[in-house]
Amino acid sequence: MKRNYLFVVMFIFFGVISGNAAAHHERKDTSIVLDYLEDSTVQLGSVLYDEHCASCHGQNLGGQPDWHKRDQDGYLPAPPHDETGHTWHHTDKYLFEMTKYGLQAFVGDGYKTRMPMYKDILSDSEIIAVLSFIKSRWPEEVIQIHNEQVNSSK
Ligand code: HEC
Repeated sequence: MKRNYLFVVMFIFFGVISGNAAAHHERKDTSIVLDYLEDSTVQLGSVLYDEHCASCHGQNLGGQPDWHKRDQDGYLPAPPHDETGHTWHHTDKYLFEMTKYGLQAFVGDGYKTRMPMYKDILSDSEIIAVLSFIKSRWPEEVIQIHNEQVNSSK
Protein backbone atom coordinates (compact mmCIF):
# COMPACT_ATOMS: atom_id res chain seq x y z
CA MET A 1 0.00 0.00 0.00
CA LYS A 2 2.75 2.40 0.98
CA ARG A 3 4.66 1.55 -2.20
CA ASN A 4 1.67 2.37 -4.38
CA TYR A 5 1.35 5.74 -2.72
CA LEU A 6 5.00 6.49 -3.37
CA PHE A 7 4.55 5.50 -6.99
CA VAL A 8 1.62 7.89 -7.43
CA VAL A 9 3.57 10.75 -5.85
CA MET A 10 6.54 10.10 -8.13
CA PHE A 11 4.28 9.89 -11.15
CA ILE A 12 2.81 13.32 -10.41
CA PHE A 13 6.24 14.75 -9.66
CA PHE A 14 7.76 13.61 -12.96
CA GLY A 15 4.63 14.69 -14.82
CA VAL A 16 5.14 18.24 -13.54
CA ILE A 17 8.85 18.20 -14.41
CA SER A 18 8.33 16.99 -17.97
CA GLY A 19 5.44 19.45 -18.44
CA ASN A 20 7.81 22.27 -17.52
CA ALA A 21 10.46 20.95 -19.88
CA ALA A 22 7.96 20.92 -22.76
CA ALA A 23 6.91 24.51 -22.04
CA HIS A 24 10.54 25.52 -21.92
CA HIS A 25 11.15 23.97 -25.35
CA GLU A 26 8.31 25.96 -26.88
CA ARG A 27 9.79 29.19 -25.62
CA LYS A 28 13.25 28.31 -26.85
CA ASP A 29 11.98 27.81 -30.39
CA THR A 30 11.07 31.49 -30.68
CA SER A 31 14.65 32.71 -30.33
CA ILE A 32 16.64 30.61 -32.76
CA VAL A 33 19.86 32.21 -33.96
CA LEU A 34 22.37 30.28 -36.07
CA ASP A 35 25.81 30.44 -34.54
CA TYR A 36 27.75 30.26 -37.83
CA LEU A 37 30.72 32.36 -36.64
CA GLU A 38 31.51 30.11 -33.67
CA ASP A 39 34.15 27.53 -34.69
CA SER A 40 33.19 24.90 -32.13
CA THR A 41 29.51 25.03 -33.18
CA VAL A 42 30.38 24.83 -36.88
CA GLN A 43 32.76 21.95 -36.25
CA LEU A 44 30.13 19.97 -34.36
CA GLY A 45 27.63 20.81 -37.12
CA SER A 46 30.02 19.52 -39.77
CA VAL A 47 30.28 16.12 -38.05
CA LEU A 48 26.50 15.94 -37.59
CA TYR A 49 25.95 16.98 -41.20
CA ASP A 50 28.14 14.13 -42.48
CA GLU A 51 26.34 11.67 -40.27
CA HIS A 52 22.72 12.78 -40.73
CA CYS A 53 22.30 14.93 -43.84
CA ALA A 54 25.07 14.29 -46.39
CA SER A 55 23.58 11.03 -47.69
CA CYS A 56 20.73 13.02 -49.24
CA HIS A 57 21.84 16.67 -49.36
CA GLY A 58 25.35 15.79 -50.59
CA GLN A 59 28.79 15.76 -49.03
CA ASN A 60 29.43 19.23 -50.45
CA LEU A 61 25.86 20.46 -49.87
CA GLY A 62 25.13 20.04 -53.59
CA GLY A 63 21.83 18.14 -53.20
CA GLN A 64 20.53 15.43 -55.55
CA PRO A 65 20.35 15.72 -59.35
CA ASP A 66 17.16 17.24 -60.79
CA TRP A 67 16.06 18.36 -57.35
CA HIS A 68 13.30 20.56 -58.80
CA LYS A 69 11.46 17.59 -60.31
CA ARG A 70 9.34 15.06 -58.44
CA ASP A 71 10.24 11.41 -59.17
CA GLN A 72 7.81 8.75 -60.44
CA ASP A 73 6.61 8.16 -56.89
CA GLY A 74 5.79 11.85 -56.39
CA TYR A 75 8.71 12.69 -54.12
CA LEU A 76 11.09 15.62 -54.55
CA PRO A 77 14.83 14.82 -54.45
CA ALA A 78 16.88 16.55 -51.73
CA PRO A 79 17.70 20.16 -52.65
CA PRO A 80 21.21 21.59 -52.26
CA HIS A 81 21.99 23.54 -49.08
CA ASP A 82 24.63 25.68 -50.78
CA GLU A 83 23.92 29.05 -52.44
CA THR A 84 22.35 27.38 -55.51
CA GLY A 85 19.40 26.07 -53.44
CA HIS A 86 16.70 27.83 -51.46
CA THR A 87 17.85 27.03 -47.93
CA TRP A 88 19.16 30.58 -47.53
CA HIS A 89 15.76 32.01 -48.51
CA HIS A 90 14.43 30.87 -45.13
CA THR A 91 14.88 32.44 -41.69
CA ASP A 92 16.99 30.78 -38.98
CA LYS A 93 13.84 29.95 -37.08
CA TYR A 94 12.02 28.44 -40.05
CA LEU A 95 15.03 26.26 -40.97
CA PHE A 96 15.21 25.08 -37.38
CA GLU A 97 11.52 24.24 -37.27
CA MET A 98 11.51 22.46 -40.64
CA THR A 99 14.44 20.30 -39.52
CA LYS A 100 12.99 19.60 -36.11
CA TYR A 101 9.30 19.06 -36.88
CA GLY A 102 9.46 18.02 -40.55
CA LEU A 103 8.00 19.66 -43.62
CA GLN A 104 4.56 18.15 -43.00
CA ALA A 105 4.21 20.56 -40.09
CA PHE A 106 4.19 23.43 -42.60
CA VAL A 107 2.94 22.00 -45.88
CA GLY A 108 0.27 19.72 -44.36
CA ASP A 109 0.02 16.21 -42.96
CA GLY A 110 -0.52 14.41 -46.25
CA TYR A 111 2.60 15.93 -47.85
CA LYS A 112 4.80 13.28 -49.45
CA THR A 113 8.42 13.92 -48.55
CA ARG A 114 11.57 11.96 -47.86
CA MET A 115 12.91 14.65 -45.54
CA PRO A 116 12.97 13.10 -42.04
CA MET A 117 12.02 15.04 -38.89
CA TYR A 118 14.77 15.27 -36.33
CA LYS A 119 12.95 16.00 -33.09
CA ASP A 120 13.69 12.56 -31.66
CA ILE A 121 17.14 12.24 -33.27
CA LEU A 122 18.98 15.52 -32.65
CA SER A 123 18.78 17.91 -29.68
CA ASP A 124 17.87 21.57 -30.29
CA SER A 125 21.51 22.62 -30.00
CA GLU A 126 22.58 19.89 -32.44
CA ILE A 127 20.01 21.11 -34.97
CA ILE A 128 21.31 24.67 -34.51
CA ALA A 129 24.88 23.38 -34.96
CA VAL A 130 24.14 21.53 -38.20
CA LEU A 131 22.29 24.53 -39.67
CA SER A 132 25.09 26.85 -38.47
CA PHE A 133 27.56 24.66 -40.36
CA ILE A 134 25.40 24.94 -43.50
CA LYS A 135 25.21 28.73 -43.13
CA SER A 136 28.97 29.01 -42.58
CA ARG A 137 29.47 27.52 -46.04
CA TRP A 138 27.51 30.21 -47.91
CA PRO A 139 29.45 32.96 -49.71
CA GLU A 140 29.82 36.23 -47.77
CA GLU A 141 27.22 38.08 -49.90
CA VAL A 142 24.61 35.37 -49.32
CA ILE A 143 25.27 35.42 -45.56
CA GLN A 144 24.85 39.19 -45.64
CA ILE A 145 21.50 38.99 -47.48
CA HIS A 146 20.40 36.26 -45.06
CA ASN A 147 21.24 38.42 -42.05
CA GLU A 148 20.00 41.75 -43.33
CA GLN A 149 16.98 40.81 -45.41
CA VAL A 150 15.78 37.27 -44.77
CA ASN A 151 16.17 37.08 -41.00
CA SER A 152 14.85 40.56 -40.40
CA SER A 153 11.81 40.10 -42.64
CA LYS A 154 9.82 38.02 -40.13
C1 HEC B 1 16.54 10.77 -46.54
C2 HEC B 1 17.01 11.96 -47.23
C3 HEC B 1 17.24 13.22 -46.41
C4 HEC B 1 18.02 13.40 -45.29
C5 HEC B 1 18.85 12.35 -44.57
C6 HEC B 1 17.92 14.80 -44.94
N1 HEC B 1 17.09 15.45 -45.82
FE1 HEC B 1 16.59 17.44 -45.77
N2 HEC B 1 15.38 17.18 -47.38
C7 HEC B 1 15.24 16.01 -48.08
C8 HEC B 1 14.30 16.21 -49.17
C9 HEC B 1 13.88 15.14 -50.18
C10 HEC B 1 13.90 17.55 -49.10
C11 HEC B 1 12.90 18.23 -50.05
C12 HEC B 1 11.61 18.24 -49.33
C13 HEC B 1 10.37 18.09 -50.10
O1 HEC B 1 9.94 16.94 -50.26
O2 HEC B 1 9.77 19.12 -50.44
C14 HEC B 1 14.59 18.14 -47.96
C15 HEC B 1 14.45 19.45 -47.54
C16 HEC B 1 15.13 20.04 -46.49
C17 HEC B 1 14.97 21.41 -46.05
C18 HEC B 1 13.98 22.41 -46.62
C19 HEC B 1 14.44 22.93 -47.94
C20 HEC B 1 15.49 23.96 -47.86
O3 HEC B 1 16.47 23.90 -48.62
O4 HEC B 1 15.36 24.86 -47.04
C21 HEC B 1 15.85 21.60 -45.03
C22 HEC B 1 16.09 22.88 -44.24
C23 HEC B 1 16.54 20.34 -44.81
N3 HEC B 1 16.08 19.42 -45.71
C24 HEC B 1 17.52 20.15 -43.85
C25 HEC B 1 18.09 18.91 -43.58
C26 HEC B 1 19.07 18.70 -42.52
C27 HEC B 1 19.63 19.80 -41.64
C28 HEC B 1 19.35 17.36 -42.53
C29 HEC B 1 20.26 16.61 -41.58
C30 HEC B 1 20.09 16.86 -40.15
C31 HEC B 1 18.56 16.74 -43.57
N4 HEC B 1 17.82 17.72 -44.19
C32 HEC B 1 18.57 15.39 -43.88
C33 HEC B 1 15.83 14.80 -47.81
C34 HEC B 1 16.68 14.53 -46.74
